[in-house]
Amino acid sequence: MKAIEFVYTTAVADYSQVIAHLTACDENFFPSLSKKVDIALYADKIIKNAVTFEAWEGENLAGLVAAYFNDELLKKGFITNVSTLKKYFGKGIAKKLMYMCIGYAKTKGYEEILLEVSKESEAARNLYTKLNFNAVAETAKIITMTLKL
Ligand SMILES: CC(C)(COP(=O)(O)OP(=O)(O)OC[C@H]1O[C@@H](n2cnc3c(N)ncnc32)[C@H](O)[C@@H]1OP(=O)(O)O)[C@@H](O)C(=O)NCCC(=O)NCCS
Repeated sequence: MKAIEFVYTTAVADYSQVIAHLTACDENFFPSLSKKVDIALYADKIIKNAVTFEAWEGENLAGLVAAYFNDELLKKGFITNVSTLKKYFGKGIAKKLMYMCIGYAKTKGYEEILLEVSKESEAARNLYTKLNFNAVAETAKIITMTLKL
């Protein structure tokens, strides 16, 4: 069987594509994304304020990393979203998108990338650890991780 070929882009996805992707991924998050945010408002915030790193399978947004690189003073970026459509889990999409995000941060002179991950999200925690993010703080449910660039 022929392997699916994903196309990777930066800052191409539009509002409706981000909503469609996040809605399809909603229940994969711990807790579900819609329990934490209004997906339409969140997608709007992402499109307006974040840089998006995207994996496409045809017209479908198969994977999405979104990060804020707006702190020009401290040069700290913040990854707000990492998600892959369930049917494409385990194909290296999130890892590739995270590498794209890290590479982008470096080219923009950023010194650190932060993110927050739910303790229950084992796959995400493994992914970030594999990419050398370190835990710097934690609450009952959330771990803050950082990568120094
Ligand atoms: C976390 C998530 C984005 C990973 O996406 P993915 O495209 O399947 O990940 P990749 O195939 O790139 O895997 C990269 C690494 O993540 C880790 N990982 C991925 N799936 C895993 C699983 N089911 N169990 C344990 N570790 C896993 C592994 O370390 C893997 O590296 P390896 O393949 O070399 O072992 C995906 O599971 C997801 O969308 N989860 C729901 C949303 C979510 O929790 N996002 C994070 C919010 S902080």
